[in-house]
Amino acid sequence: MRLDKFLGQFDIGTRKQIKEYLKNGRCSVNGTVVTKPDIHVDENTDEISFDGNVLEYSKYHYYMLYKPQGVVSATTDGRNTTVLDLLQDENAKGLSPAGRLDIDTEGLLLLTDDGGLIHRLLSPKKHVDKVYEVHLDHELSDKDIAALEKGVNIGDTKDTGEIDYTLPARVELWDADEEGRPVVHLIIHEGRFHQVKRMMEAVGNEVLFLKRLSMGPLKLDESLVPGEYRPLSAEELKQLGV
Ligand code: URA
Repeated sequence: MRLDKFLGQFDIGTRKQIKEYLKNGRCSVNGTVVTKPDIHVDENTDEISFDGNVLEYSKYHYYMLYKPQGVVSATTDGRNTTVLDLLQDENAKGLSPAGRLDIDTEGLLLLTDDGGLIHRLLSPKKHVDKVYEVHLDHELSDKDIAALEKGVNIGDTKDTGEIDYTLPARVELWDADEEGRPVVHLIIHEGRFHQVKRMMEAVGNEVLFLKRLSMGPLKLDESLVPGEYRPLSAEELKQLGV
């Protein structure tokens, strides 16, 4: 592939900046400084360094998206904008979201073509923590909190016909939003359909705004604005065990 395309896969800069960095002699291929963006490199055998650090090529791509409201967590959709439509990047092909957020939910969404990681994050057996900021219609009582933390009936049944209560969750009382509505953080370890909304409904409340703040070790980068994305950093990849 072209050298600038290769470099574009790392968190180095835009194509334009990369061209400038190359001109400044910051990149070398197999020990020789290379200044042209269009030379071809073999990502599997060439040793490519930037500022003296060898860049390890990964065949997978990982992006953090701040999903905005009004966009669906699907790869294709006849009607609505999808999260993939937001990625103005040639690497977007083949990416999938790790789990879904409702169209009116915003926040952290990981997009990747690493199916193994998606499986590890979503597998019900792994119980990966997800933290949601939840704006509610009215305050939760102590009884509501106790019920949510123990497990509530959200209308799901097991194969045996028994009620499939949600797993124990954690509620952290937070604050109120600008409109005075109570805000809590809800930490859950599973990912059932509309889970947060149905849990709050089970205790007679209503979710008015929902935002995912984290998934396992991955935290929403609050410097992104809704609709923006960036590649995961080396540290984040390490935390995810990639
Ligand atoms: N729970 C919900 O109800 N909706 C989401 O988008 C995510 C979790």
